[in-house]
Amino acid sequence: MKVLLVGSGGREHAIAAALKRSSRVDQLYCAPGNAGISGIAECVNISTMDFDALTAFALDKGIDLTVCSMDDPLCAGIVDAFEAKGLRIFGTRKNAAIIEGSKAFSKDLMKRYGIPTAAYEVFDDAAKAAAYLETAPLPIVLKASGLALGKGVLICNTRQEAMDGIRELMTDRKFGSAGDQVVIEQFMTGREVSVLAFVDGKHYKLMTSSQDHKRAGDGDTGLNTGGMGTFSPSPFYTAEVDAYCREHIYQKTVDAMAAEGRPFNGVLYFGLMLTQDGPKVLEYNTRFGDPETQVVLPRMVTDIVDVMDACIDGTLDQIDLTFADNAAVCVVIASGGYPLAYEKGKVIKGLEYFEGRDDCFCFHAGTALNAQGQIVTSGGRVLGVTALGSDLKAARAAAYEAAGKVHFEGQYMRSDIGKAIDESEALPAAGTL
Ligand code: GLY
Repeated sequence: MKVLLVGSGGREHAIAAALKRSSRVDQLYCAPGNAGISGIAECVNISTMDFDALTAFALDKGIDLTVCSMDDPLCAGIVDAFEAKGLRIFGTRKNAAIIEGSKAFSKDLMKRYGIPTAAYEVFDDAAKAAAYLETAPLPIVLKASGLALGKGVLICNTRQEAMDGIRELMTDRKFGSAGDQVVIEQFMTGREVSVLAFVDGKHYKLMTSSQDHKRAGDGDTGLNTGGMGTFSPSPFYTAEVDAYCREHIYQKTVDAMAAEGRPFNGVLYFGLMLTQDGPKVLEYNTRFGDPETQVVLPRMVTDIVDVMDACIDGTLDQIDLTFADNAAVCVVIASGGYPLAYEKGKVIKGLEYFEGRDDCFCFHAGTALNAQGQIVTSGGRVLGVTALGSDLKAARAAAYEAAGKVHFEGQYMRSDIGKAIDESEALPAAGTL
């Protein structure tokens, strides 16, 4: 079959690799793709938001299945646009993608259906939000309700920081209309775990767990980023946590969306916090996580096209979704300066280390080919180096060894991805939960 993948990041490179492994895929296209994806798919220069051009391409080429796992196109209705043309697409329709597109919606959903999450208030008026913050308990979390490139969450330790945050989000509109509505939320402490689920409108199947590292610096210091590395599985996602979430979170969310007339198909990302009062939902996303996907999909045994088909057809209950009983660690290599200003166009060396290997992979996030045909940097997060291992410690050692083979001027990576593994001696370090 012919498959079109929409996107250009490290997540898309990992999805492209999983599609390439499928026995059912004969031809893979990616719009627009990147230098790494071009090694396994035919890249076509169409913007992810140009639905007219994407659907025209799919019709012209006779594409059997399109795959999209990006928040902006999903929230803007790419699935609806493809379906309107009679094209088959894996992803979430616009009316269900709101679960990520509006934090006010998702918080209200959780409140209405008794899904555990932090206490919160929603404001669409800056003066009222500021008045609430005069006496609100600190620290406190401000979230732009709309999509803000993952940067619209502010943790405020002082009243002044909270007031400045409201000005930034609502008055100065740093993230445009995303901050016209703001969720002010109780600050929670605990360990974060990401759990991705395939969903077919009624049923869900969980992928193996993972954990992201969102801050730029070692020891979880510095600015928030799109994610500097991941490991999978999370040894903190125990059988007990899993059982609690199955009872109180996963099916309840799928049922709540169906009851609201917004049946959810696609990948539902549960951002969980394991608090002293039990697991709570920090956030939902309507897509594969990035860089979680770079550690989850390399461990997936089931053919991804079979699972995607089942999500579209409502037959996910008939799928046996399995993961290898191993572990994976991904170390992101970024451009110096990221997430602030950084230079592009730096030649990347050492990529041949990954050729033909099935124990480690170099997923490209921000790369391009220059006029001389060299692979160069073109984004903040440039590469995600993932290694598999029999357990988390072996995977981490292999990931750092592999990351050490790649070089470009000004490169930066955290040196402590997976440090939490050392705090979990008593817990299993590999597994499929
Ligand atoms: N890694 C966080 C996200 O994908 O939103």
